[in-house]
Amino acid sequence: MGRKFLVALGGAALALSLAACSGGGAGSGEKSGDEKPSDLTIGVSMPTQTSERWIADGNAVKSKLEAKGYKVDLQYAGDDIPTQSQQVDQMITQGADVLILAAIDGTALSSQLQAAAAAKIPVISYDRLIRGSKDVDFYVSFDNYKVGVAQGTALLVGLGLLNKDGSKGTAKGPLNVELFAGSLDDNNTQFFFGGAMDTLKPFIDDGTLVVKSKQTTPEQVATLRWQQETAQKRMENLLTSAYNDGSKVDGVLSPYDGISRGIITALQNAGYGKGAKKLPVVTGQDAEIASIKLINDGVQSSTVFKDTRLLAEQAVNAAEAFLQKKQPQANDTKTYNNGVKVVPAYLLPIATVYKDDIKATLIDSGYWTAEEVAAGQAKK
Ligand code: GAL
Repeated sequence: MGRKFLVALGGAALALSLAACSGGGAGSGEKSGDEKPSDLTIGVSMPTQTSERWIADGNAVKSKLEAKGYKVDLQYAGDDIPTQSQQVDQMITQGADVLILAAIDGTALSSQLQAAAAAKIPVISYDRLIRGSKDVDFYVSFDNYKVGVAQGTALLVGLGLLNKDGSKGTAKGPLNVELFAGSLDDNNTQFFFGGAMDTLKPFIDDGTLVVKSKQTTPEQVATLRWQQETAQKRMENLLTSAYNDGSKVDGVLSPYDGISRGIITALQNAGYGKGAKKLPVVTGQDAEIASIKLINDGVQSSTVFKDTRLLAEQAVNAAEAFLQKKQPQANDTKTYNNGVKVVPAYLLPIATVYKDDIKATLIDSGYWTAEEVAAGQAKK
């Protein structure tokens, strides 16, 4: 069978049969571990380019691999599950030697993973754990539960209920808050929301925090595909349904900067941020440049910084270990059960960023420049 024909057909089943009839020629099954980097291709699949964060991740992984001489096939899936499946299928049929995958839907890549395993292609789950498959070989991410705790804590600090050092703040309740979570098909969502709710629950239980909408379950507060517009709509609905009696929102738990910007837009459209009607405290995640400007301007309260440069480095280390027929170094072998097995993980630390931290955490470390922060835009 001609290779062109195979590529044209694509598909997981095909990758399986290819592996079966050619003895694993499509992937690294035949590799000895002594190949030159320039003979090896790493397939990198990222969910979407609508978020600054994933662009930074894709670029960082690609440039770090290329600096070591590897070939890189980087694809973005436009947040469309069939597109991602197809792109990964194609990476397999085209002979990728390792796959680095940030899934849109954590359960939707099982057949691709089966094909990868049959072709002996190691799979690294990037930031979002792939669920329901035994064929995930390694996971690189951050401490996602801690991200949630940091978001809950940042909401409490922003509201003045806690000080940054963890001591009790001077504010008194009751204060009105609303809750947002990420996409339920992303394994991280349960960690972020769980960590945040464990932190906020005592304050909700004793009446210091009031969720006026009464929407507190993950299903009620989730945001499909993490979309800014979806979050904006939900915030608009919350304002008209639960705050039409003249009461005000004091804080909003947001799990991701894009969602935070949707929430802030809805609030501003409803007159918050003008005169005496102060904008609520809004949290975030990812230190996206548009949100860092908002934090610098006193509009968004905080974000959780996850250094994509370090994540990319860990993904590259793991890929290289697999290519050299070694096991990557894990620092967590307990937390990330994907429903079928516990996936060995390397988890990186996180940092909360308030306005005062922008310089030390983001500018001095070279993540964003002062000009980018002022402009709210990444310089290409
Ligand atoms: C999560 C990720 C977050 C955020 C979100 C939306 O999986 O851990 O950092 O980027 O997706 O893209």
